[in-house]
Amino acid sequence: MDLKLKGKTAFISGSTSGIGFATAQVLLKEGMKVYINGRTQNSVEIALKKLEKAVPKAQVFGVAADFSEEKELKKIQTAIPNVDVLINNVGIYTSSSFFDTTSATWQEQFQVNVMSGVALSKFYIKGMLERNWGRVFFLSSECAYIVPTDLISYSATKASLHAISRGLAQLTKGTGVTSNVVVPGSTLSEGAQRFLKEKATEEKTTPQEVEVNFFKTERTQSLLQRFATVEEVATTIAYYSSPLAVATNGAIIKVDGGSSGGAL
Ligand SMILES: NC(=O)c1ccc[n+]([C@@H]2O[C@H](COP(=O)([O-])OP(=O)(O)OC[C@H]3O[C@@H](n4cnc5c(N)ncnc54)[C@H](OP(=O)(O)O)[C@@H]3O)[C@@H](O)[C@H]2O)c1
Repeated sequence: MDLKLKGKTAFISGSTSGIGFATAQVLLKEGMKVYINGRTQNSVEIALKKLEKAVPKAQVFGVAADFSEEKELKKIQTAIPNVDVLINNVGIYTSSSFFDTTSATWQEQFQVNVMSGVALSKFYIKGMLERNWGRVFFLSSECAYIVPTDLISYSATKASLHAISRGLAQLTKGTGVTSNVVVPGSTLSEGAQRFLKEKATEEKTTPQEVEVNFFKTERTQSLLQRFATVEEVATTIAYYSSPLAVATNGAIIKVDGGSSGGAL
């Protein structure tokens, strides 16, 4: 299927690896110009080289900016005046008991996971509305629904993205701009692969066995019963980036293998 994205420009926050990187790769294959991002120039350059190798003639660029610092957002806005597709993908989490989670941890997660997307949306949506075309995504998580007790602060950041995305969608009424939330479930990013390997070493078993047990005990509602691949999430984002997907606005797009449950 031709997603009709050729020539359009995307920015993806937190995209030197994981879902963001895979999304960059899919959008580049569709002929888009893509700006990636990570915290350091070094990590951005490594990712750029990988993407240039994977997608010959890719129009790919990078901007290093650490979203835990509000002032770093300026670097993105200065380097990229307009985008057609804004993917607010960056997300960090700390696994800790509610009682041990400090205010600084809550604030850092809100700054990175929520406020980066708020600031970038404020900056880019006006141009999208003027041009009568644009796509905005916020990467949520199954945790917004499940709320694991060691991830209450992270889950709260993700739940708040749903309200922001829906509110922004309402501002797009009658235009060709859309704003949607994407809800991944457990996804096999590099971090998840490390988690499986470390747990396997700790429990003297294999990463495959750890994965099976994780779904049996921690994600019992999952219908997929395995980690999704980053490509499975990336191709979903690519479809909803397309002009073909204009009728999906203010929506919650689940790619969680059914883990957040419920018939509605
Ligand atoms: N993987 C999952 O199982 C899963 C499940 C549900 C939802 N999600 C959500 O999906 C999104 C992507 O997840 P992922 O697992 O692919 O992410 P990830 O692998 O943990 O993300 C790594 C990327 O984030 C960048 N990054 C981290 N902190 C940053 C900061 N302060 N400023 C700028 N960039 C930063 C890293 O850049 P550098 O290292 O180059 O600095 C790297 O590009 C997140 O919002 C996450 O919450 C993931």
